[in-house]
Amino acid sequence: MYYPQEILEEVRLRNDIVDVIKEYLPLKKQGSSHFGLCPFHNENTPSFSVSADKQLYYCFGCGAAGNVISFIMQVENCDFVEAVQRLADRAGIVLPQAEYSPEDARQERLKERLYEIHSAAGRFFYGKLNSPQGAKALDYVNKRRISVSIQKKFGLGFAPNSRDELYRHLKGMGFTVEEMLASGLVMENKQKNGYHDRFYNRLMFPIFDVKGRCIAFGGRIMESGEPKYLNSPETIIFNKKRNLYGLNFARAERKKEIIIVEGYMDMITIYQAGFKNVAASLGTAFSSEHAMLLKKFVSDIILVFDSDEAGERAALRAIPILSDGGFRVKVLQVPDGKDPDEYIKHNGPLEFGKLLINAVSFMEFQIKCARKKYSLNDLEQKMLFTKEAAGLISNLSSPIERDVYIKQVSEETGISMSAVEEEIYNTDKKRSSDFEKESKQRRVRSYTTGAQIKTESLHNARGVLQAQKNIISICCSNSSICRKLIDIVSPEEFRDKVFCSLLKYVYDCCLSGRNAVPADAVNIFADSESQAKAAEVFSVKFDIEDTEELEKALNEEIKLIKRVYLDYLASNASSIEEIQKVIELKKELGSFEFKL
Ligand code: UTP
Ligand code: MN
Repeated sequence: MYYPQEILEEVRLRNDIVDVIKEYLPLKKQGSSHFGLCPFHNENTPSFSVSADKQLYYCFGCGAAGNVISFIMQVENCDFVEAVQRLADRAGIVLPQAEYSPEDARQERLKERLYEIHSAAGRFFYGKLNSPQGAKALDYVNKRRISVSIQKKFGLGFAPNSRDELYRHLKGMGFTVEEMLASGLVMENKQKNGYHDRFYNRLMFPIFDVKGRCIAFGGRIMESGEPKYLNSPETIIFNKKRNLYGLNFARAERKKEIIIVEGYMDMITIYQAGFKNVAASLGTAFSSEHAMLLKKFVSDIILVFDSDEAGERAALRAIPILSDGGFRVKVLQVPDGKDPDEYIKHNGPLEFGKLLINAVSFMEFQIKCARKKYSLNDLEQKMLFTKEAAGLISNLSSPIERDVYIKQVSEETGISMSAVEEEIYNTDKKRSSDFEKESKQRRVRSYTTGAQIKTESLHNARGVLQAQKNIISICCSNSSICRKLIDIVSPEEFRDKVFCSLLKYVYDCCLSGRNAVPADAVNIFADSESQAKAAEVFSVKFDIEDTEELEKALNEEIKLIKRVYLDYLASNASSIEEIQKVIELKKELGSFEFKL
């Protein structure tokens, strides 16, 4: 979906990036930039920079970057259109109806069809579970003690034991093969002479997005066999890292706290037990995207994991993601080697509720896990444990919280509180100097000079991308060089989609006598990832004073880009003629020289 460029430009101009960002975090002016603590990762030293001239932001710590619209998208976790609307409101601009580009329109239509196909499939599976065909599956559901009303609420279903019943059903409803394949519910036969259903003879769990639209399925086998759960593949409407099972129901509870579990059945059983603020990760590790998604709804998280080692590992991995995301995190490990579903079935909801109340803070959990690795009777091991614990405690910023755990570790090991404190202090110091070093390196990397880039480009694979960035950046700042390059480097030669579009934009501006504006260039893209990539291009300065130096550097860059492009053409050639053409072009490249 897009708005006319002029409107986006107006929205951007009337929302100064420094003013907008200041509404979210304090910024301090330093030279030509403003600096603050990055809202997108946890840090103690400001590495988040905002440039008033360029109207862009860039974080030297985590690489987040973009213009004012990208900032709103990231910080409010919303899409492009919503971000533009918010900013238009802020500036009192009335927006025209947004339009779709033809490609976006096609994509949007396909998305709509995929929602429809999933809802049709959901109804199909649901009907089967409650038909004679589904008797065995219904029996299984009952054995697992899922009540009828919960079956209904969660839309549980049954995929019949047949090759293509769903395929025929969907076909009868008017869905095309293309749509069915895109949904992942139907697959082409190995012999490529027909189609079959992905799911058969499985108990089906529809997966909903936060808006309650069915976007995928998980199917459980009812006997023993592999895989236990078969899930829909990722599609244009289903991204495992951006969805949580049951979050559509959990969010309706409007609690500030949510229980996160690993399994579909755990989620359902906990919900049925009356703790309705619960969601499950979809057979994938907990990700920072999950954290962003939750940020909209809750501030507190209780991680409930199985009592096995895998569960513990999963919890330990999720903790830093969540605490860096600014959540208050507690952890509950279900006892007796059970998962939450089994625990509730054995001990009842009340006992589970007690476990919840006794969930420990993530720090206590982390220290407990660390302790298990050492034998505290051994002096050497005791020291190692204390050092590890100090490292963990140093992640806490509140002195009061720190004190609690320092006391605990000291009591446990007999090592004095002041020694533990000193150890933490040293970790703090080391970490901030590591951070300084790291962010300095990043700064050098992104503001590196042409000469440095030149040697780098020959040695690393990212060289060609760096070269593309440099070309875009110099075209943007120097229109006479840009005019020359238009005849020499074509956007198609940039294999990277974002960079290709950027070069096109910069060329268009040059040809029509306009200035290319970095912050507008970012608006060509509607997703934050591409926006950040585009913004990063303009954080690169490619200003070499010396003409001869510059000419040399540009020569290298252009040759590199062309060489890589020709290799690409060669590997995709489908005829001898094409290959010969590439060979010819390669020869020409040998004597290529760019003159300023
Ligand atoms: P578990 O193996 O712990 O199963 O997988 P479970 O949740 O206890 O399932 P039941 O109680 O035996 O029915 C935890 C989660 O990992 C994902 C699923 O989301 C599952 O709920 N998973 C597991 C898969 O996606 N595929 C698998 O083959 C297994
Ligand atoms: Mn289970």
